[in-house]
Amino acid sequence: MSSPSSKPMPPPERGGVIAVACDHAGFGLKKEIVELLCELKVEVLDLGCANAQQSVHYPLFGKMVVDAMLARPGSRGILICGTGLGMSIMANRFPGIRAALCHDLYAALMCRRHNDANLLVMGGRVIGPDLGKEIVRTWLGTPFEGGRHQERLDLLEQLAQEKPRAGATP
Ligand code: RB5
Repeated sequence: MSSPSSKPMPPPERGGVIAVACDHAGFGLKKEIVELLCELKVEVLDLGCANAQQSVHYPLFGKMVVDAMLARPGSRGILICGTGLGMSIMANRFPGIRAALCHDLYAALMCRRHNDANLLVMGGRVIGPDLGKEIVRTWLGTPFEGGRHQERLDLLEQLAQEKPRAGATP
């Protein structure tokens, strides 16, 4: 697998920002990631939380990133909690959000190529800062392939609008 980490970083799509948030368990990794994004001269919106000491509720911080992304089309998001699981579950409830939990570079690459993941989620208790930063570089630098993958994303949005079919047999 070739790593795109040496290539210059493209900004988020036109008019967009990268909105970032975490809970207390993700605070350390979020700090490193925000520093990286600033180094890369990407427009960052840091929505908290403010420290690792005070326990906070991850859904509230996740929702702030979702709201920021939906308010500014072309934006992307990064969410970090302890495992990344709570933030993933939270973010994927909202139409237009495609959140991918990534703890390796292959997932970071493929979630862009095939899933056009516009929100990266990581677990601050699962990976260290160096791997986290490489995951962010890969996720930022990898384009969506479109084509049949776009058809599948369209299907996801369409199916999410449908009512559950009561009594349907598997
Ligand atoms: C907080 O202790 C932890 O539950 C949270 O960061 C996250 O891992 C939830 O999914």
